[in-house]
Amino acid sequence: MWKVSCFVLFVSGLTLSHCVNPGMKLMISQKGLDFAHEVAKNFLESQVQALSIPNISGKEDIQGELKYEITNIKVEDYKIIDSSLTFVPDVGIQMAIKNSKATILSNWNVEHWTIKAKEKTTLELSEASFIIAFKISKNDTGSPLLSLNSCQSDIKKVEIKLNGPLKLIQKKYGDEKIKDVILKLLNSQICTALAEESKKWAVYVNALPVQHKIDDHVQIDYRLVNSPVFTNKYADVDVKGTFYAINNRTEPALAPAPFTLPDSSDSMLYVGISEYTLNSVAQAYFDDQALHLAFTHKQLDHIVKELDGVTANLPEARGRLRATKAPVFTLKPKNMTVELAGQIELVTKENKKPAHSEITVSITSSISADVSISESNSRLNVTGSLTLNSITLHVMSEDKTKASKFAELEKSVKNFIEKHLVPTLDGKLKRGVTIPSVPFIKLVNPISHTNEKFFQLNTDIAYNFPRM
Ligand SMILES: *[C@@H]1O[C@H](CO)[C@@H](O)[C@H](O)[C@H]1NC(C)=O
Ligand SMILES: *[C@@H]1O[C@H](CO)[C@@H](O)[C@H](O)[C@H]1NC(C)=O
Ligand SMILES: *[C@@H]1O[C@H](CO)[C@@H](O)[C@H](O)[C@H]1NC(C)=O
Ligand SMILES: *[C@@H]1O[C@H](CO)[C@@H](O)[C@H](O)[C@H]1NC(C)=O
Ligand SMILES: *[C@@H]1O[C@H](CO)[C@@H](O)[C@H](O)[C@H]1NC(C)=O
Repeated sequence: MWKVSCFVLFVSGLTLSHCVNPGMKLMISQKGLDFAHEVAKNFLESQVQALSIPNISGKEDIQGELKYEITNIKVEDYKIIDSSLTFVPDVGIQMAIKNSKATILSNWNVEHWTIKAKEKTTLELSEASFIIAFKISKNDTGSPLLSLNSCQSDIKKVEIKLNGPLKLIQKKYGDEKIKDVILKLLNSQICTALAEESKKWAVYVNALPVQHKIDDHVQIDYRLVNSPVFTNKYADVDVKGTFYAINNRTEPALAPAPFTLPDSSDSMLYVGISEYTLNSVAQAYFDDQALHLAFTHKQLDHIVKELDGVTANLPEARGRLRATKAPVFTLKPKNMTVELAGQIELVTKENKKPAHSEITVSITSSISADVSISESNSRLNVTGSLTLNSITLHVMSEDKTKASKFAELEKSVKNFIEKHLVPTLDGKLKRGVTIPSVPFIKLVNPISHTNEKFFQLNTDIAYNFPRM
């Protein structure tokens, strides 16, 4: 699909610049659109009722000139009876309303040689069909753009409820003739009014944020890097997917590699998260200097116990584990590997003396996991299994008298990691780690797996609004 999007950009001649690889991809299937249909329908119903339809005035020859002015046109009740939401290849999406009805209130001001009248009128429209297509693209800085691409209106039936003098005209000159005039006028006005109203939606869509603050440390930039691609089966949306430290925004050194989401339409939504995006998460937390852990004396017991002679004289040993490089992710089928480089500093604090570092253990390690995401009770559950591929340790200390103990220390730290840390994390992952889900959206039947260079999540969605 990456190829498709670049191809489209090329042939449309809009830009000959290179196609940018996204960090994350979303693919929405027709099943996903069917899910959005109900919301789109409710939205259109309420928006049509809010339309401001311009005054209509004109002349007709009905046994002499009849001048009319129709003002305060208000759609009172609009109901969509039959409709569908589909993709329009190369354009965007389209709402086809095959049947709908409305009540329209308006004031009529009519002048004819036989009468002169002014009155409130009710029109009952039925068998009204509309085809409304929206173009969806992006601007140069990646914000979404929406515009009304085409609108066709075909209102077939109207009942006119007139009173007083106007009723006389209706009787005298034929109901059908007046209906024809009204239908022609309304059909020409509805799309004009919709075009005007849709400018407000365009402003709203364009102002949608393209960044989101994840926590106090990092934010994600998900601006569009290519214009969304529409075929008759799916929409393919390429977003930047770069995480940054909020207070230390640094562009990742490597650009994303291309990847392709497999062609499928069983789920509503397909999400691809690239190796690049995962690495930018790691880099962002590292740039924020958020990748560290503190151990208390008690937690260090496992290690410290075996350090007689090294730390026996340290009444208050504390440990600090910090990353010395951003962790590096590599994704392969069913295998997510993280290369970690860190340092454990054993720091001591003796009475009335400033804390000072006793020993530093530098660690490089590679850990692989096969992870997947499931959903239960509106929470996302990450499960999997963890394997330690390799671990290398190096112990350093200013105090050379302790050098004889280094080999022992290395062994004990390694032992701690292999026998305690990794099995503990593996056990945690096997039991499942819950992560907060997206607000108001519930993932239904998510299926996920790691692929070559990206993580893929296929899912259906449901609304998950808080109970009132
Ligand atoms: C339509 O007519 C009404 C009544 O004459 C008037 O108040 C209103 O300003 C007119 N609207 C437009 C858009 O001309
Ligand atoms: C794209 O839209 C955003 C949001 O309105 C705006 O801030 C930005 O300046 C626009 N970019 C360009 C190149 O017009
Ligand atoms: C910002 O990130 C860079 C790159 O990781 C790092 O060298 C630098 O120390 C960080 N600056 C701050 C203020 O944390
Ligand atoms: C996962 O991949 C890493 C290298 O990327 C490799 O060292 C490791 O053996 C693989 N693990 C499995 C279970 O295939
Ligand atoms: C997460 O998945 C694991 C493994 O399937 C399961 O044992 C655990 O109960 C799940 N956790 C939640 C909160 O559903």
